[in-house]
Amino acid sequence: MAYETILVETRGKAGLITLNRPKALNALNSVVQKEVLAALDRFEADDNIGAIVLTGSEKAFAAGADIKEMQEKSYIDMYKADFFAGWDAMLRIRKPIIAAVSGYALGGGCELAMMCDFIIAGDNAKFGQPEITLGVMPGMGGSQRLTRFVGKSKAMDMCLTGRMMDAAEAERCGLVSRVVPAAELLDEALKAAEKIASFSLPSVMMNKEAVNRAYETTLTEGLRFERRVFHSLFAFDDQKEGMAAFSEKRPPNFRNR
Ligand code: CAA
Repeated sequence: MAYETILVETRGKAGLITLNRPKALNALNSVVQKEVLAALDRFEADDNIGAIVLTGSEKAFAAGADIKEMQEKSYIDMYKADFFAGWDAMLRIRKPIIAAVSGYALGGGCELAMMCDFIIAGDNAKFGQPEITLGVMPGMGGSQRLTRFVGKSKAMDMCLTGRMMDAAEAERCGLVSRVVPAAELLDEALKAAEKIASFSLPSVMMNKEAVNRAYETTLTEGLRFERRVFHSLFAFDDQKEGMAAFSEKRPPNFRNR
């Protein structure tokens, strides 16, 4: 399939999606949205892929939703199209998605990174929710997800002042899982994706589902859910294989069954 705004490739068992609108710093317009979701769906359906990396350029992961596309829209246009709701389809992807962020991740770019399962940042990354400077506010989940990531005080600071935070601050406050030298970002993200893809896919997907459940429910319900899915993994051959391999001091040979 030919894409206009993204590059799609595979590296071993990792799928790689690169946002590719360099002249607009990867601003997220409706074509990008459609193409990213289509590429994710294809990787989700591909048995040879175990994890996905979403990245941008060295200068910008994405500098936000496309301001020029939104500029002339009316309230009724936005409401009727349920603008940005299409991105919710990303939440249906059950394989892990790692955001590899170099440069600007602003507005919708920061929000897209937060829709991924975790963020690895280059040491040149800059995160922000500058929508307030445009007379609006986050619309792709920033006010909700950023608050869950970094807490109320810092989320308020970011949304109300529109300032950017650097990679070190993003790591300190838990927005990103790790910071690596910018030149090594893609390799590190792909290495993490390949590592994940080497495990048993059902356990990978259930780990992802269980951690996400922590954001949607009470502790009691979350613990009950975790225990149930933990028990269910004993229905898979891969549990037998993983534990046998440990006992026999050899690497496991997972067969995703
Ligand atoms: N939408 C559309 N075009 C964008 C864009 C965006 N979000 N961000 C950058 N561009 C375009 C610029 O218009 C420029 O295009 P032209 O060459 O045709 O003028 C090109 O990308 C390069 O940008 P700059 O010349 O501005 O590059 P810079 O290095 O001087 O500055 C920047 C970089 C600080 C990131 C600056 O581009 C910027 O502030 N961008 C906008 C950031 C922003 O406000 N993002 C939030 C968008 S709204 C949103 O995301 C809503 C939501 O909740 C989802």
